[in-house]
Amino acid sequence: MNLDKVFQNNEKWIKEKIALNANYFDDLGKGQQPELLYIGCSDSRVTAEDLMGLGPGEVFVHRNIANMVCGTDLNAMSVIEYAVEHLKVGHVVVCGHYACGGVKAAMQSADLGILNPWLRNIRDVYRIHNQELNAIDCEEKKYDRLVELNVQEQCINLMKTSAVQKAYRERGLKVHGWVFDVHSGRLIDLNIDFDTILDKIREIYHLD
Ligand code: CO
Repeated sequence: MNLDKVFQNNEKWIKEKIALNANYFDDLGKGQQPELLYIGCSDSRVTAEDLMGLGPGEVFVHRNIANMVCGTDLNAMSVIEYAVEHLKVGHVVVCGHYACGGVKAAMQSADLGILNPWLRNIRDVYRIHNQELNAIDCEEKKYDRLVELNVQEQCINLMKTSAVQKAYRERGLKVHGWVFDVHSGRLIDLNIDFDTILDKIREIYHLD
Protein backbone atom coordinates (compact mmCIF):
# COMPACT_ATOMS: atom_id res chain seq x y z
CA MET A 1 0.00 0.00 0.00
CA ASN A 2 1.31 3.41 -0.95
CA LEU A 3 0.72 5.65 2.06
CA ASP A 4 1.14 8.78 -0.07
CA LYS A 5 -2.30 7.89 -1.36
CA VAL A 6 -3.69 8.30 2.17
CA PHE A 7 -2.57 11.92 2.28
CA GLN A 8 -3.94 12.57 -1.21
CA ASN A 9 -7.24 11.05 -0.09
CA ASN A 10 -7.20 13.30 2.95
CA GLU A 11 -6.78 16.44 0.82
CA LYS A 12 -9.65 15.32 -1.40
CA TRP A 13 -11.83 14.63 1.67
CA ILE A 14 -11.12 18.11 3.10
CA LYS A 15 -12.17 19.72 -0.21
CA GLU A 16 -15.39 17.66 -0.31
CA LYS A 17 -16.33 18.63 3.24
CA ILE A 18 -15.63 22.33 2.67
CA ALA A 19 -17.58 22.29 -0.61
CA LEU A 20 -20.65 21.15 1.35
CA ASN A 21 -20.10 23.44 4.33
CA ALA A 22 -17.44 26.15 4.35
CA ASN A 23 -17.40 26.16 8.18
CA TYR A 24 -17.17 22.39 8.51
CA PHE A 25 -13.78 22.24 10.24
CA ASP A 26 -14.39 25.41 12.28
CA ASP A 27 -17.48 23.71 13.69
CA LEU A 28 -15.63 20.41 14.24
CA GLY A 29 -12.90 22.25 16.14
CA LYS A 30 -15.41 23.59 18.68
CA GLY A 31 -15.91 20.25 20.39
CA GLN A 32 -17.87 17.03 20.30
CA GLN A 33 -21.33 15.99 21.44
CA PRO A 34 -21.74 12.46 20.12
CA GLU A 35 -24.98 10.70 21.06
CA LEU A 36 -23.61 7.22 20.56
CA LEU A 37 -20.79 5.15 22.04
CA TYR A 38 -19.85 2.34 19.64
CA ILE A 39 -17.80 -0.61 20.88
CA GLY A 40 -16.77 -2.81 17.98
CA CYS A 41 -14.14 -5.22 16.69
CA SER A 42 -10.78 -4.02 15.33
CA ASP A 43 -11.37 -6.12 12.20
CA SER A 44 -10.45 -4.04 9.13
CA ARG A 45 -13.66 -5.07 7.36
CA VAL A 46 -15.91 -3.65 10.05
CA THR A 47 -15.66 0.11 9.99
CA ALA A 48 -17.51 2.12 12.58
CA GLU A 49 -18.81 5.42 11.15
CA ASP A 50 -18.75 4.33 7.52
CA LEU A 51 -21.17 1.40 7.78
CA MET A 52 -23.56 3.51 9.87
CA GLY A 53 -23.39 6.48 7.51
CA LEU A 54 -22.23 8.73 10.35
CA GLY A 55 -19.54 11.37 10.20
CA PRO A 56 -16.95 12.99 12.46
CA GLY A 57 -18.43 14.17 15.76
CA GLU A 58 -21.37 11.75 15.73
CA VAL A 59 -20.00 8.63 17.38
CA PHE A 60 -17.48 7.94 20.16
CA VAL A 61 -15.62 4.79 19.16
CA HIS A 62 -13.81 2.01 21.00
CA ARG A 63 -12.51 -1.01 19.11
CA ASN A 64 -10.58 -4.07 20.20
CA ILE A 65 -10.27 -7.73 19.20
CA ALA A 66 -13.76 -9.28 19.32
CA ASN A 67 -15.49 -6.18 20.76
CA MET A 68 -14.87 -7.10 24.38
CA VAL A 69 -15.95 -5.19 27.49
CA CYS A 70 -13.64 -6.43 30.25
CA GLY A 71 -13.97 -4.92 33.70
CA THR A 72 -10.20 -4.91 34.25
CA ASP A 73 -9.44 -3.29 30.87
CA LEU A 74 -8.49 0.25 31.86
CA ASN A 75 -8.75 1.35 28.24
CA ALA A 76 -12.35 0.17 27.67
CA MET A 77 -13.44 1.23 31.16
CA SER A 78 -12.03 4.74 30.65
CA VAL A 79 -13.80 5.07 27.30
CA ILE A 80 -17.11 3.98 28.85
CA GLU A 81 -16.69 6.29 31.86
CA TYR A 82 -15.84 9.28 29.66
CA ALA A 83 -18.59 8.67 27.09
CA VAL A 84 -21.34 7.95 29.63
CA GLU A 85 -20.46 10.25 32.55
CA HIS A 86 -18.95 13.21 30.71
CA LEU A 87 -20.19 13.20 27.10
CA LYS A 88 -23.53 11.82 28.34
CA VAL A 89 -24.21 9.70 25.26
CA GLY A 90 -27.78 8.45 25.04
CA HIS A 91 -26.91 5.08 23.52
CA VAL A 92 -24.15 2.49 23.93
CA VAL A 93 -23.77 -0.16 21.25
CA VAL A 94 -21.72 -3.34 21.32
CA CYS A 95 -21.36 -4.40 17.70
CA GLY A 96 -19.97 -7.85 16.87
CA HIS A 97 -19.59 -9.31 13.41
CA TYR A 98 -19.96 -12.69 11.77
CA ALA A 99 -16.71 -14.38 10.66
CA CYS A 100 -14.91 -12.75 13.59
CA GLY A 101 -11.35 -14.07 13.68
CA GLY A 102 -11.11 -13.38 17.42
CA VAL A 103 -14.16 -15.53 18.16
CA LYS A 104 -12.88 -18.29 15.87
CA ALA A 105 -9.42 -18.22 17.47
CA ALA A 106 -10.99 -18.52 20.93
CA MET A 107 -12.58 -21.80 19.91
CA GLN A 108 -9.30 -23.40 18.90
CA SER A 109 -6.77 -24.88 21.27
CA ALA A 110 -3.73 -23.12 19.75
CA ASP A 111 -1.45 -21.30 22.21
CA LEU A 112 -1.54 -17.68 21.06
CA GLY A 113 0.64 -16.10 23.73
CA ILE A 114 -0.65 -12.80 25.10
CA LEU A 115 -3.87 -13.33 23.14
CA ASN A 116 -4.73 -16.29 25.42
CA PRO A 117 -6.08 -14.30 28.39
CA TRP A 118 -7.95 -11.95 26.07
CA LEU A 119 -9.62 -14.75 24.11
CA ARG A 120 -10.32 -16.71 27.30
CA ASN A 121 -13.11 -14.23 27.96
CA ILE A 122 -14.83 -15.58 24.84
CA ARG A 123 -14.30 -19.16 26.04
CA ASP A 124 -16.13 -18.11 29.20
CA VAL A 125 -19.04 -16.93 27.04
CA TYR A 126 -19.04 -20.38 25.41
CA ARG A 127 -19.04 -22.05 28.84
CA ILE A 128 -22.04 -20.01 30.00
CA HIS A 129 -24.00 -20.96 26.87
CA ASN A 130 -22.46 -24.37 26.08
CA GLN A 131 -25.77 -26.23 26.14
CA GLU A 132 -27.25 -24.06 23.41
CA LEU A 133 -24.02 -23.96 21.39
CA ASN A 134 -23.26 -27.69 21.59
CA ALA A 135 -26.74 -28.40 20.19
CA ILE A 136 -25.84 -26.61 16.93
CA ASP A 137 -24.36 -29.10 14.41
CA CYS A 138 -23.23 -26.69 11.70
CA GLU A 139 -19.85 -25.21 12.69
CA GLU A 140 -20.46 -21.93 10.91
CA LYS A 141 -23.87 -21.47 12.56
CA LYS A 142 -22.28 -22.27 15.92
CA TYR A 143 -19.67 -19.53 15.40
CA ASP A 144 -22.36 -17.09 14.28
CA ARG A 145 -24.38 -17.81 17.41
CA LEU A 146 -21.30 -17.45 19.59
CA VAL A 147 -20.69 -14.04 17.99
CA GLU A 148 -24.25 -13.04 18.98
CA LEU A 149 -23.98 -14.44 22.51
CA ASN A 150 -20.63 -12.72 22.93
CA VAL A 151 -22.29 -9.40 22.05
CA GLN A 152 -24.99 -10.13 24.63
CA GLU A 153 -22.45 -10.97 27.35
CA GLN A 154 -20.41 -7.84 26.59
CA CYS A 155 -23.60 -5.78 26.92
CA ILE A 156 -24.13 -7.43 30.32
CA ASN A 157 -20.54 -6.51 31.21
CA LEU A 158 -21.42 -2.91 30.33
CA MET A 159 -24.32 -3.07 32.76
CA LYS A 160 -22.02 -4.24 35.53
CA THR A 161 -20.29 -0.84 35.47
CA SER A 162 -21.44 1.87 37.86
CA ALA A 163 -21.42 4.51 35.08
CA VAL A 164 -23.89 2.56 32.93
CA GLN A 165 -26.09 1.55 35.89
CA LYS A 166 -26.31 5.16 37.06
CA ALA A 167 -27.07 6.56 33.60
CA TYR A 168 -29.63 3.78 32.96
CA ARG A 169 -31.39 4.66 36.22
CA GLU A 170 -31.14 8.43 36.07
CA ARG A 171 -31.57 9.31 32.39
CA GLY A 172 -32.65 6.15 30.61
CA LEU A 173 -29.37 5.34 28.84
CA LYS A 174 -30.03 2.69 26.18
CA VAL A 175 -27.73 -0.30 25.61
CA HIS A 176 -27.91 -2.14 22.28
CA GLY A 177 -26.42 -5.36 20.91
CA TRP A 178 -25.80 -5.41 17.16
CA VAL A 179 -24.06 -7.69 14.69
CA PHE A 180 -22.55 -6.68 11.36
CA ASP A 181 -22.90 -9.32 8.66
CA VAL A 182 -19.71 -9.06 6.60
CA HIS A 183 -21.26 -11.25 3.89
CA SER A 184 -24.10 -8.81 3.15
CA GLY A 185 -22.97 -5.53 4.74
CA ARG A 186 -26.12 -5.52 6.85
CA LEU A 187 -26.26 -4.24 10.41
CA ILE A 188 -28.54 -6.44 12.53
CA ASP A 189 -30.14 -5.38 15.81
CA LEU A 190 -30.18 -8.44 18.09
CA ASN A 191 -33.09 -6.82 20.00
CA ILE A 192 -31.70 -8.04 23.29
CA ASP A 193 -34.28 -7.72 26.05
CA PHE A 194 -32.17 -5.89 28.60
CA ASP A 195 -34.96 -5.26 31.09
CA THR A 196 -35.42 -9.02 31.54
CA ILE A 197 -31.65 -9.63 31.71
CA LEU A 198 -31.23 -6.81 34.20
CA ASP A 199 -33.97 -8.23 36.42
CA LYS A 200 -32.04 -11.50 36.54
CA ILE A 201 -28.60 -10.04 37.28
CA ARG A 202 -29.56 -7.00 39.35
CA GLU A 203 -29.31 -8.72 42.73
CA ILE A 204 -25.73 -9.81 41.93
CA TYR A 205 -24.28 -6.76 40.17
CA HIS A 206 -26.28 -3.85 41.56
CA LEU A 207 -24.19 -0.87 42.68
CA ASP A 208 -25.62 2.12 44.59
CO1 CO B 1 -13.69 -9.55 14.81
